[in-house]
Amino acid sequence: MEIIIQPTPEAATGIAARLLGKAIRAKPASVLGLATGSTMEALYRELVAMKLDWSKLTTFNLDEYVGLSPQHPQSYHSFMWDNLFRHVNVAIKNVNIPDGLAKDVPATCDNYERKISATGGIDVQLLGIGTSGHIGFNEPTSSLASRTRIKTLTPQTLSDNARFFGSESGVPHHVITMGIGTILESRHCVLLAFGAKKARAIAEAVEGPITAMNPASALQLHPKVTVFLDEAAAAELKMKEYYRWVYEQKPAWQKL
Ligand code: F6R
Repeated sequence: MEIIIQPTPEAATGIAARLLGKAIRAKPASVLGLATGSTMEALYRELVAMKLDWSKLTTFNLDEYVGLSPQHPQSYHSFMWDNLFRHVNVAIKNVNIPDGLAKDVPATCDNYERKISATGGIDVQLLGIGTSGHIGFNEPTSSLASRTRIKTLTPQTLSDNARFFGSESGVPHHVITMGIGTILESRHCVLLAFGAKKARAIAEAVEGPITAMNPASALQLHPKVTVFLDEAAAAELKMKEYYRWVYEQKPAWQKL
């Protein structure tokens, strides 16, 4: 796992955007796994400003709220169109987001998995992390081998996401999310976390034991993970000076 600590979210986001840009230019028909949430907003702004060619890319979003139509302002469909897709030349047919109104949820989830496999698998998977340690909406105690399925949000996530819905009671309780097993199959996982609220979840994910109690800790099993942090989110990492040193010593050919 590579841990990149920057003074501010803006600095970390800038380097993450360069990593994405490099991956897209190197493979214009890449398959990207995309995330939503506040952390991604600045990253998508940077990607839009880079004027990359999205015409051959395929995208798969991690998750969607069950019961919200794509047009609902807080659906992840709306988030993606508002923050990214309407500003780039992505082909609509190549955009995949779980259907929150699916009648047959298990079949929809199986199809999502099949479609990811049929494209050859995800090249780069973007991830945020919840204060609960969730990636996608895989809440604590999710199976580390889980696939795309319906999940129930924890009270902690309902409270964290109340800001988008006006109140905690307005947050849908159920979601469709890629599983941890699905995420671990992508070729490169790129996680971004900013702010003091994420510090404990990050320390447990990076330096704690691999445990379903912190789903992001499963990323320790993945051969290629890059974690972008600001100082506040890195605050509880015991080995942060080492990670900083490693990044500073990187040979020029590895620099972003
Ligand atoms: C969203 C998702 C979640 C968020 C996480 C952090 O698609 O998969 O795991 O990345 O809840 O959200 P923010 O960035 O709002 O703190």
